[in-house]
Amino acid sequence: MIEQPTEARQEGLVELHDISKAFDGKPILKDINFSVDKNQFLTILGPSGCGKTTLLRMIGGFEEPDSGTIFLNGKCINGVSPHDRNINTVFQKYSLFPHMNVYDNIAFGLKLKKQSAKTINKKVKDALKLVSLSGFEKRSIEALSGGEQQRVAIARALVMHPQVLLLDEPLSALDRRLRLDMQRELKEIQVKAGITFIYVTHDQEEALTMSDKVIVLNNGAIQQIDTPDNIYNEPVNLFVADFVGTNNIIDGRFIEDHRVSFLGAEFECDDVGFVKNSRVHVIIRPEDFILGEGGKLSGHIRSAAFKGMVNELVVLVEDTELIVRTTTHYVAGTDVFLDVIPFNIHVLTEEKADEKV
Ligand SMILES: Nc1ncnc2c1ncn2[C@@H]1O[C@H](COP(=O)(O)OP(=O)(O)O)[C@@H](O)[C@H]1O
Ligand SMILES: [Mg+2]
Repeated sequence: MIEQPTEARQEGLVELHDISKAFDGKPILKDINFSVDKNQFLTILGPSGCGKTTLLRMIGGFEEPDSGTIFLNGKCINGVSPHDRNINTVFQKYSLFPHMNVYDNIAFGLKLKKQSAKTINKKVKDALKLVSLSGFEKRSIEALSGGEQQRVAIARALVMHPQVLLLDEPLSALDRRLRLDMQRELKEIQVKAGITFIYVTHDQEEALTMSDKVIVLNNGAIQQIDTPDNIYNEPVNLFVADFVGTNNIIDGRFIEDHRVSFLGAEFECDDVGFVKNSRVHVIIRPEDFILGEGGKLSGHIRSAAFKGMVNELVVLVEDTELIVRTTTHYVAGTDVFLDVIPFNIHVLTEEKADEKV
C-alpha cells in the first residue's frame, strides 16, 4: 500500500493520480488524472473497449492499478477492499437476487451489517421513496419491468449511504423511451440523495444530459475533461468533435488570426494562434448554419429528412457533404446558400489538439 501524504489535503472527494493499468502486457489505461467533488455528477464517456469499466472497477476496489494512487477524502485507498471503501457500485447487469422480494434485496446489505429491524425498515422505505417505488416491498424481482429492476438496484446501493455511487452503463438494457425517463430520474435521485455519482456510458447524449462534468476517454487516455457545454461546443480535438454529436469536420486553411477559408470562401472566425496559411480542420455544428440569400457557400440539397422538430438536410457544397439542421422546411433537389457566424466556427489542428490533451 502506498504511503499517505502527511500534509492536509483540500481537494476532490475522489482523486486519481497517474493511474495506469495493463492486461497481459497491453496498456489499457494510461496516466489517468482527475478529481470528483462532493455531490458532483461525473460521467466517463467513451467508445466500447476504451477502458471505462476497468477504470470504474479500480475506483470500486475490484481491480488494482499497476501504478498511481486513488484518494478518497484525501486518504489513499489503494489496496483497500471494496466493502471498506464507502463506495457502492450499480453494475450493468443489475445482479439482484431473483428469489428475494424487493424489500429483501434492498435490506440485504443492512442485515449483513446487523442493523436493527426498525432501522432497516426505515432505511428501505426511504430508499424506495427516493427511487419512486414506495409500496413495492413485497413484489418479486421477476415481476418487475426492466426500469423497475434498475431502480431497485439503485435503491439497494443508496440504502448503504455510500459517499460515492459508481454506475456502469446502468441504462443500456432499457428501451429508448424508458432510458430518457430514467436519465431525468437518475439526475433527480443524485441531487436528492446528495451523493457523488461516477457514471460510465458510451452514449454522448446521456453524458451531456445528466452530468456536471464529463471525461471523454479514448484508447485508455483522457481526451478532455470539461462541462457538457464545453465538451459539445469546444471539443479540444478531432476525436471529441467526432464522438460527441454529429459535427461537420471540414478541411480548411488558416489565413491569419480571425480569418479562415474553407469550401472556396473566406470567413471571419474567433480563433487565433494557428500557423498562417496552415491546413486546419474546421468544425461546424449542423444547427449552426444560416440558410438563405447572401450566404457565402452555395450548395445543393441532396436529401431532407424531418426529425421531430427539425429538418435534417444533407447539402453538397463543392464535393463536400454537410449535415445541416434547420427548423425551416426545405425539399431535396433544390439549391441553397449557407453562412456561419464567427462564433460558430471552431478551428482545430492535430498538433494543437495534441498540445491540449
Ligand atoms: N480482466 C481482463 N483481462 C484482460 N483484458 C481485459 C480484462 N478486463 C478488460 N480487459 C480489456 O481491456 C480493454 C478495456 O475494457 P473495458 O474496461 O471493459 O472497456 P469499456 O468498459 O470501455 O468497454 C478491453 O480491450 C478488454 O478486452
Ligand atoms: Mg464497460
